[in-house]
Amino acid sequence: MNILILGGGGREHALAWAILQNPRCDRLIVAPGNAGIAAIAECATLDIEDGGAVATFAEENAVDFVVIGPEAPLAAGVADRLASAGIACFGPSQAAAALESSKAFTKQVCDACGAPTARYGHFTDAEAAKAYVRTQGAPIVVKADGLAAGKGVIVAETLDQALAAVDEMFAGAFGGAGAEVVIEEFMQGEEASFFVLCDGENVLPIGTAQDHKRVGEGDTGPNTGGMGAYSPAPVMTDAVCARALDEIVKPTMAEMARRGTPYRGVLYVGLMIEDGQPRLVEYNVRFGDPECQVLMMRLGGQVLDLLLACAEGRLDGARVNWAADHALSVVMAAKGYPGAYEKGTPIGGLDGLAQDSAHMVFHAGTAQAGGQVVATGGRVLNVTARGASLAEARARAYGMVDRIDWPGGFYRRDIGWRAL
Ligand code: AMP
Ligand code: GLY
Repeated sequence: MNILILGGGGREHALAWAILQNPRCDRLIVAPGNAGIAAIAECATLDIEDGGAVATFAEENAVDFVVIGPEAPLAAGVADRLASAGIACFGPSQAAAALESSKAFTKQVCDACGAPTARYGHFTDAEAAKAYVRTQGAPIVVKADGLAAGKGVIVAETLDQALAAVDEMFAGAFGGAGAEVVIEEFMQGEEASFFVLCDGENVLPIGTAQDHKRVGEGDTGPNTGGMGAYSPAPVMTDAVCARALDEIVKPTMAEMARRGTPYRGVLYVGLMIEDGQPRLVEYNVRFGDPECQVLMMRLGGQVLDLLLACAEGRLDGARVNWAADHALSVVMAAKGYPGAYEKGTPIGGLDGLAQDSAHMVFHAGTAQAGGQVVATGGRVLNVTARGASLAEARARAYGMVDRIDWPGGFYRRDIGWRAL
């Protein structure tokens, strides 16, 4: 079959790498792709948030199955447009994607189905929001309602920080995303991510992961999109996974179906776990980045069968074949990230690296220029390895990192520390 993946980051490189291992994949196109993806698949130029353009491209190229990587095309309704054109698609409808595109919507769904999550208030003006902050005290979490590229959440340690965050959001610091604000109780505990495929009715867990959001070693400094990840997450024991499924995921899926907007796709369940009790931090309606890279490394070619079963409503008969393995990914980022950084710096040492089922360098922000690979983004490479233990996966990943010659980049040396 002919497959089109939308997106051009490390997540989509990992999806492409896994899907290509499945013999059912005859032709793979990725739009827009990047330099790493171009080495294994065709790349195409396409406005991936324009559902009409994606549907036309898919028809012209006899695409049988579209896999949507990032949240923006989902929130823009690209899956709906493909469905009405009769093209099979992995990814939720625009209405179901509200589980990521509106934090207030998610809180209302949790209220309706009884899923445990932080206590909250939802506000459309600054004065009411600030009055609520004063009654609750600090620490407290201030969130822009809409999509803000992972930046719309402020964990305020003091009352003054919280009040300032409210003012900034209503003043437009996150554009339209901050026109409504959700204010939440600060939850204690350990964070982990749980990935579940949902076909509107059935759910199938496909793995757990933890990422490192802070830029600096020891989990210090500003938040980023993620500086590294590993799978599985030790805190996600069988008992915690079962509670998360029964108390959070299944009730949410039932509520979405009851509302006439069943959820179909991967649900990224961000959890806070304290004393064995998982509570919902957030949902995302796509794979995490870099969490996807470690999941794909562990799942390999079976991913295509799972994504197809999900899109076609056949998850009740689907199974995941697990190996008792671990994967770990180190993000190499441009110096300065998550602030201002230089673009176009050359990266050497990639050619000699092993690329096999235990070692992969996924590209997140690269291009080919003048016969070499150059950095084009903040997060640039995801150096990913698999092993029988987390320690082995980590040693393999850093063994590759040490051979990459990129003076314009940096990375954390302590990915996985919490689990090791
Ligand atoms: P979100 O975009 O909702 O995942 O928030 C980004 C990060 O902020 C999360 O990964 C948590 O580390 C933190 N966070 C969000 N909400 C809360 C909360 N209610 N309590 C504690 N930490 C939170
Ligand atoms: N790594 C966090 C995310 O993808 O949202």
